This record gives sequence, structure tokens and C-alpha cells, in this order.
Amino acid sequence: MYFIGIDIGTTSVKMIAVDEKGTIAKSISKEYPLSFPKPLWSEQNPEDWWKQSINGFKELLDSLDKNEVKAISFSGQMHGLVTLDQDDKVVRPAILWNDQRTEKECLYLNEEIGQNKISKWTGNLALTGFTAPKILWLKENEPENFAKTKKIMLPKDYIAYKMSGVFATDMSDASGTLYLDVKNRKWSQEMMNLLGISESQLPKLYESYEVIGNIKAELANELGLSQDVKIIIGGGDQAVAAVGCGIVGPGSCSLSLGTSGVVFTSNEKFFVDEKNSLHSFCHANGKYHLMGVTLAAAASLKWWVEKINETNDFDKLLDGAKEVKIEESLFYLPYLMGERTPHNDANCRGTFIGLDLTHERKHMTRAVLEGVAFSLRDTFEIMKKMGIEIANVNINGGGAKSRLWCEIIADILNVTVNKLNTNEGPAYGAAILASVGFGMFDTVEDACSKLLKITESIYPSKDKSKLYDKKYEKFRKIYPATKELFKQLTD
Ligand code: XUL
Repeated sequence: MYFIGIDIGTTSVKMIAVDEKGTIAKSISKEYPLSFPKPLWSEQNPEDWWKQSINGFKELLDSLDKNEVKAISFSGQMHGLVTLDQDDKVVRPAILWNDQRTEKECLYLNEEIGQNKISKWTGNLALTGFTAPKILWLKENEPENFAKTKKIMLPKDYIAYKMSGVFATDMSDASGTLYLDVKNRKWSQEMMNLLGISESQLPKLYESYEVIGNIKAELANELGLSQDVKIIIGGGDQAVAAVGCGIVGPGSCSLSLGTSGVVFTSNEKFFVDEKNSLHSFCHANGKYHLMGVTLAAAASLKWWVEKINETNDFDKLLDGAKEVKIEESLFYLPYLMGERTPHNDANCRGTFIGLDLTHERKHMTRAVLEGVAFSLRDTFEIMKKMGIEIANVNINGGGAKSRLWCEIIADILNVTVNKLNTNEGPAYGAAILASVGFGMFDTVEDACSKLLKITESIYPSKDKSKLYDKKYEKFRKIYPATKELFKQLTD
């Protein structure tokens, strides 16, 4: 039997076929364009996701026994606004999670309507990346497109809709819209009123492991699949990545070093932190989770290596960084796309601070790795204040391939960093959800405990952690000292 996991990522769609023992039979990925039509804007054409998903599907299936494909599920970049008209045509390009155009709308929601109300209705506060402020932006700036919009959905839901014909979403992804009442797992009437939308424009809500229907007959024929293939809705990429690395029990924690970097804890109960610094969302196992997001994690390293150093040789640069001493007083702020946790500031920017004539490329490479880890520690500190103690994290995402980065994270966060038998993250998590939805396992927890194993643990060094504690205290001072300046520079 094969279970297919599809991750609609920001740069590509990744697909994997996993058998009932959890072994990856095949994986492929297909890129699509990302456009930045104006500063702070980030858009993609949903039709590109679909085109490449179909191309990817054909390639994935060409050497597999198609009769063995039993169920398909999804993970997707969260928060993106996808709009369809009455003929199910895409109204305008999707406005993505890392788009920062909605500062004005967020101020309106958080300050005029008020953070208390927004948090009471949704469990969260308005952030520029979330979907609700994008709807307000559309209404104000493109009223003709707003009027044409008959269906509002998230990126993976568009693909699930094209595959099944069912207009559906799941609780974890819906949590990032800011119009879900997260605690009660239903659309928020107050938020719908505020945005001027109705429930008929929104997809039906499911849990991530639930079957929404079967594959459409014509698509099954085109792909050579059985019409019995089940479509399971899946979830937002962070919750599904957490499933893919076993973060489903109470208090367990994962750290994702993807384009964005995320500290994610799984909780049995819903709770919010006092300042709404963390995202308080539904988890893909039917429970809840908290997370903090640094927007440019692996994106910082990719930028540094490819754009600034004009190479693809990540290993060479990372090798150089190994020799650099922790005591070096050079810092990097990873705010290349503004920042979410803990600053919620669209205006701040990336910066190196503390450069002197002795510094070489290797020092700056290490500063990038450390800066991202310090930023993840900011989330850890908020969690600590809430009484969440974390001693172990399961790591995933492209950045986790660097042993040096994992060691730096272990030392800066003072935690044991575990690697698992798979590092496919969200696509693997989606395949797990497909297997649960199909009925291979009783629960998501059951599937994770049977399919996932820790293969390596990287322990923190006491001495290095102490040095990093001191360095982190300095890092924390940089943002408050530069905040106003960034605001003036971006004005
Ligand atoms: C999560 C988030 C990103 C995107 C893209 O809140 O914004 O992780 O889902 O990966």
C-alpha cells in the first residue's frame, strides 16, 4: 500500500509515497515561481501549484504500482489568500504568508478593534502574514476582486478542491486565518462580520486526519489511479511537519529550520500567552499547539550563501564557520522579511552588527547561523515564562542537514536536538495523516509512535551554553536599540 503526502511549499511542491511500514518508496519535487511584484509583496499563482502538482504526480507514479495507492493528504504553506470566482476561476494571484503589505490593516485590527477582542474571538493577534488582514486589504484596494470572490481558501485547500471537488479545510491551517475561533474549533462569526464575508464563502472545517471524499473520477482516470483513493484534508505545514517528526504528545517540541524557523509545542489544551506573542493554533491531531516563528531561518542562510556569496557550495561556507570562536562579538539579526515572534514588526530588517577589520567571510557565516538560533531562543524564553520547560527538540527542515547548525542550536537553546529516521517534515507528516485517514492506524499518535524513531541526539555542551547565554543577552539588546531606526529607514 502507498500513502501519498503532498506539501505545497513556497518554492516547490514536494510529494512522497510512503508504504504501510513508513518507508519512503519515492519522493519528488517540482518548483514554481514566486513573485515579488512590489516591495513587501509576495505572490504566487495557484494554477502553477496545480500544474506542478499534476506533473509531479505523474513522475511520482511512473515507477510505482498505481493500484497500491490508497490515500492522499496534504500539507501547505499557511495563511495564503486564495480567491475563486463563481466559475471556480482564480480571481487574483494568491497573497502569501510572507507578504507584508497589510501593516495598516493589522493596526486597525489590533488597535482600533483591539487586541483583546481579536484574541478573545480567535486566540491570536493580527499579524501581517495572516489571512484576515489580507481580506481587508483586498476589500479596500481591489474592491472589484473582492466582489467577485465566491470562495476563500488556503493554498493546500485549492489542491484538495481540485483533486476531490470538495470545498474543505482543516483546523490547523484554518487557525492561521485569524477568522477561526481556535478554542471552539469553528469559524468566528465576529470576525466574518468584521471582514464582510459569510460562512458560505468559507470551506467546511475538518480535522486534519479526516477523509473529505474520494479522488475525482476524471482525475483518477488521467493518473491511472483507482476511484476509491481517499482524499484526507491534511493541515498547515507547521502542524503537519510536527506530525512528521512525532510532535503529537503533550509538551513535546519540534524545531523547524525551513525557509522560516519555528519552535512548536504540542498541547492537550488550548491556551494563549499574555501578550499573544506565540501563535495559539489547533494541532493536526485534534488537539492544540503553540508556536513562535522567525521568518527568515534557512532563508537567511540561503540568502547569505547564494545571493551574497554567489555560490551553491553551502558545505564550504559552513566548514569555514566551524573554526570561529563563540566569543567573537559579531551579531546578525535575521529579519530579512521583518519579524513575527517576538517582535511582530514588519519594518525591522536584517543586519550584521559588530564588524571589524579582523572579520572574514567565515565569521559572518557563523553569525548568520547563530542569529537564527538566537531568534528561536526568543520563542523559547516566552515558552519558559509560560511554564513550558523544554529539554529535547526533534529537528526538521533543510537547515537540519547542517551538523554545525544543529550543534549551535543545542548550545544556544541548551537542549538535546534529536534527528529522526526521516527529515521529510511536512510531506512525510501528510503521508502519515493519509495513512490515519485511510484507517491504517487508530490515531495520529499511534501512527507516529509506530513509524518514527530517533536516530541521533546532539547534546548541548555546558561550557558553550554558558558562553552563548552571555552572547544572547547582548543579542537581545540589538533589536530595541534599532527598532525606531528601522521604522524611519523603511518609511
Ligand atoms: C507558519 C508560516 C510558515 C508558512 C510557510 O505560520 O507562516 O511556516 O506556513 O512555510
